[in-house]
Order: sequence, then C-alpha cells, then structure tokens
Amino acid sequence: MKNIYWLEQTAKDLATDIDWLSASEAADLERLRFAKRRADWLLGRWTAKLAVAFYLNLPVDIQSLANVEIRAATSGAPEVYLSSRPAPVSISLSHCAGTALCAVAAADTNLGCDLELAEARSSAFVTDYFTAEEQSVIARAPTAEQPLLITVLWSAKESALKAMHTGLRLDTRSVRVSLSNPADGTNKSDKQSQDIREPDPVIARDEWIPLQVRSTAGQVLYGWWQHDGPIVRTVVADSRIAPPISLACGSPATSSYSTADNAALRSCCSLAKVT
Ligand SMILES: CC(C)(COP(=O)(O)OP(=O)(O)OC[C@H]1O[C@@H](n2cnc3c(N)ncnc32)[C@H](O)[C@@H]1OP(=O)(O)O)[C@@H](O)C(=O)NCCC(=O)NCCS
Repeated sequence: MKNIYWLEQTAKDLATDIDWLSASEAADLERLRFAKRRADWLLGRWTAKLAVAFYLNLPVDIQSLANVEIRAATSGAPEVYLSSRPAPVSISLSHCAGTALCAVAAADTNLGCDLELAEARSSAFVTDYFTAEEQSVIARAPTAEQPLLITVLWSAKESALKAMHTGLRLDTRSVRVSLSNPADGTNKSDKQSQDIREPDPVIARDEWIPLQVRSTAGQVLYGWWQHDGPIVRTVVADSRIAPPISLACGSPATSSYSTADNAALRSCCSLAKVT
C-alpha cells in the first residue's frame, strides 16, 4: 500500500512576487492571456512546489522553490524537475474556486487528484457523462444527496483520467466509479456495481472514504474521496493507496519562507519519514 500526500493552498497563501518561479516558468506565465487562467496556473505551481519541497524534505526559501520546476508534459500532465533534472516524484494538480490542490507520491505511482464544488447538475449532465450503472445509483439516492453524489463520481472520474494521463480526451463513460463501504477498502469483484452505495449523510468532515475506478479496458484504479462542506476532494492512483496524508499541518506565512520555517513544518508534518 503506497502513501499519497496532499496540500491545498488558497490565493491568500500565495507569495506576492514571482521570484519563486524558474525563468522558463515565468515565460510560461507570460504566455497566459486570461486573468483567471494566470491565477489558477500560478496558485497551482505554488502549491505543487511547496508540496514537492515538503515531500522531498527540501528547503522552502525562494531560490530553492525556483529550482523545483513544474513542467507540463505533452498530455498536459504536470511533471517535476529539480535543477532541470527529473525529480523522484509524481504529482497531480487541480484548481477550483480560488483553491489549488496538489497530490504527491513516489515517482512510480500514476496519480490524479481533483477538487470540485458540490452543486446541482442538470439531468443532461448525468446522462451525457455517467455510465448506466452510475446513473442508476444516482437515481436511487435521495434527492437531497444527489448533488454530492454526482460531484464525487464526477471528481473521481477526473482524478482517474488524470492518473491515466488522458484527461477528458477519453470519454468519461469509459471509467466507472464505485464508492466503497468506508469499512471495506478492499478490491471488489465484478459484482461491484451492486455494492455501490450512496454517500452516508453522517460522514464526518475530513474523513477519507475509499473508492474504486474500473476502465472499459479493464484497468483498476484505487482512490479516496472526502468532503468538507461543499468542497469535494478525490485522489486516485494506479495501485492501492493508504488514505491521503495532509501536508497542511501549519499554514506558513507567505513571502517569508525560510529553511527554519520548513524545519518547523517538516517536524510537525513528520516528513522526515518520507524518503
Ligand atoms: C485534465 C482535465 C480533465 C482537467 O480538468 P479541469 O477540471 O478543467 O481542471 P483541474 O483544475 O481539475 O486540473 C487542471 C490540471 O490538470 C492537469 N492536467 C492537464 N491535463 C492532464 C492530463 N492529460 N493528465 C493529467 N493531468 C493533467 C494540469 O496540471 C492542470 O493544471 P495546469 O494546467 O495549471 O498545470 C482537462 O483539462 C483535460 O482533459 N485536459 C486534456 C484535454 C485538453 O483539452 N487539453 C488541452 C491541451 S493540453
């Protein structure tokens, strides 16, 4: 079972200058024309660099963060370089409503993460993007719980498609999401669609619940979902993973990161255990 770590940052956490970008990242930013895309991209890079620095036990001063470079592969998937060399990590990124989420794991893990706001979606959205089994689970859920259920299923699809590095180039109906019983994170049989259950309305805030994704090509992916008010988070990987571990044990002050700050963060995040 592999460990996955996650970090979230909001616009207020972002350093005011951009010295923590590498020269090529600053050039990438320059090419982005729309303010919202620039803001999302910048916050995503900031969150990813911090997550990688915490995970790899690196200092978090501005120069060190500039040496952690997040590049987009041809697919659009983020890849990490340290001083221009591939870093021994795998990451995934998502942005939603002024917040960015980064999941980080060892390099041999293909992972995807996604952040969504639970909101009502049209019936056309459900019929267009969900499999027949998923539509049937949604139809059986109490009306009040459907927005959360639809959001979790949708977010898990996005995470799975990111873990597969295709993104939405693949039909969202080519991956089927099952929400497992919280007490049962084990692999399910082919009968798993019968085991799908609606989210429990008394699920504790911040509790991670297991899920599973099966592609029409037969690939099985493993993940977790969590909701915190209207915010839904999902993390999916191509192998079994333990419940994601938060790196946000102390939200550091913005533009004044120092190695000492990082040492304090590291000790409270127990990152010394990560190799
Ligand atoms: C990946 C995708 C599902 C993300 O959807 P979204 O809900 O709009 O956005 P999110 O904020 O959750 O995630 C965006 C992040 O996903 C990551 N991403 C993009 N494409 C990805 C892919 N193929 N595989 C894995 N991750 C990908 C990127 O890190 C991106 O953030 P960044 O561009 O700031 O680095 C969607 O953008 C997609 O399918 N993209 C590929 C198809 C496409 O149109 N590509 C355009 C040219 S690359």
